[in-house]
This record gives sequence, C-alpha cells and structure tokens, in this order.
Amino acid sequence: MAQILPSIFGADILRLRDEITFLEQEQTQILHVDLMDGTYVSNIAFGPNQIAAMKKASTMVFDVHMMLANPERHIDDVIKTGAEMISVHYESTPHVHYILQKIKKAGRKAGVVLNPGTPESVIEYLLDDIDYVLIMTINPGQPGQTFIEKSLEKIRNTKKMVAGRDIQIEVDGGVNIEIAKKVKEAGADLIVVGGALFNSTPKESYQALKAVVQ
Ligand code: DX5
Ligand code: ZN
Repeated sequence: MAQILPSIFGADILRLRDEITFLEQEQTQILHVDLMDGTYVSNIAFGPNQIAAMKKASTMVFDVHMMLANPERHIDDVIKTGAEMISVHYESTPHVHYILQKIKKAGRKAGVVLNPGTPESVIEYLLDDIDYVLIMTINPGQPGQTFIEKSLEKIRNTKKMVAGRDIQIEVDGGVNIEIAKKVKEAGADLIVVGGALFNSTPKESYQALKAVVQ
C-alpha cells in the first residue's frame, strides 16, 4: 500500500489554516513541504520560519523537500522547524553525505532527491545513510508540469537497488489519478500530489487518489 502526500505548495496560500485542517480531517499522515530559494530553482517558496509556523499549527509529519543552493548553509534552520523528514537534492551540493548525516544525527528521516537527469546509481554509496529516495518526476520548481514517463523505469530500477533495506521510494511532480496508479505499480511508497488534489473538488480528488494506491 502506498501513501498520498499532499504538497502544500499546491494549496490556497490565503486559506492555509483551513487547508491544513482539511488535510488533517482527511487523516493525512505526511505533509510534503517545498522549500525553494530562487537560485537552485527559479521559484521561491516557504522558508524555515513559515515551515515552523505551519508545523506548530499541525499534527502531521512534515516532509521538507529542500530545493536550495548551498543546503549546508540552511540545514540547521530546516532541522529547527521540527520537520520529521528532510530531503536534499543530490545535485545541489558536493557535500550531500555530510548533510544526510546531519539530518540523521538530529534524529530525523533523511532523503536524497534525484532530478530527472540524474541516474539512480548515484545513491550506491549513500544507501546506509538514507531513509528514502525522492525521485523527481518533473523538473523541480514549477507546478503544473507533465509527468516524465521515463521516471517509471527509474522507480523500478531504484526499487531493485534498495531491495532488502528499509528505504522508501517517494515520487514528486505531475501526478494525477492515472499516474498515481502507475507509479505505485512501479514501486513508489510515497506519492506527492499538488495540483491534482488542490483543485475545485479537493475532497473527492483526494479520496479518489487514495483509493487507487491502496
Ligand atoms: C515542484 C514541487 C512539487 C509540487 C508538485 O517542484 O517539488 O512538490 O508541489 O506539484 P504537482 O503535483 O502539481 O506537479
Ligand atoms: Zn516537492
């Protein structure tokens, strides 16, 4: 059984508290929170202060997806938000191993994120240091993009690489109901959804998404 992780980046920022309440009423266990710096990706979203404020107002587990240049400069602030899961882009730093160790030492779950052009083989020497691999199924930064079909092969290959270990596979970007089913079949455990959940019928969409990944 896979889980749907709503991406708060897709929610209505003017109704943030109501959106959090809605997700909690729908028994959401993990909330995906994007952190973008305008440099590593062109967009800018939720800094550590905003994430800490949301965390205080919620009982959900927070999964912070860091899309930052020089993540080593920001990791302490991200840890201070209280997020239980923190992921770092493999491509964003020469010190990915160091950052993963910092996350683990703080008692949080550590994830490594792979852009669409990055092969899964780069995680070979990180397998002892991660709790999850986040496979980007779009190029990070902008919502509303189309799912990259080639990602299905990467999910399957990653599943083989992590076999026998307690490592989860997360996917993020361009997921709708039909694609949620496909990524689940390919081996995804955690499926991030933004636009296809926060639409004009969020309750129905969320329930339909959950039903296809059971
Ligand atoms: C994009 C973010 C995603 C985004 C996904 O860079 O990492 O988490 O919210 O949005 P959708 O599901 O609409 O592609
Ligand atoms: Zn994300």
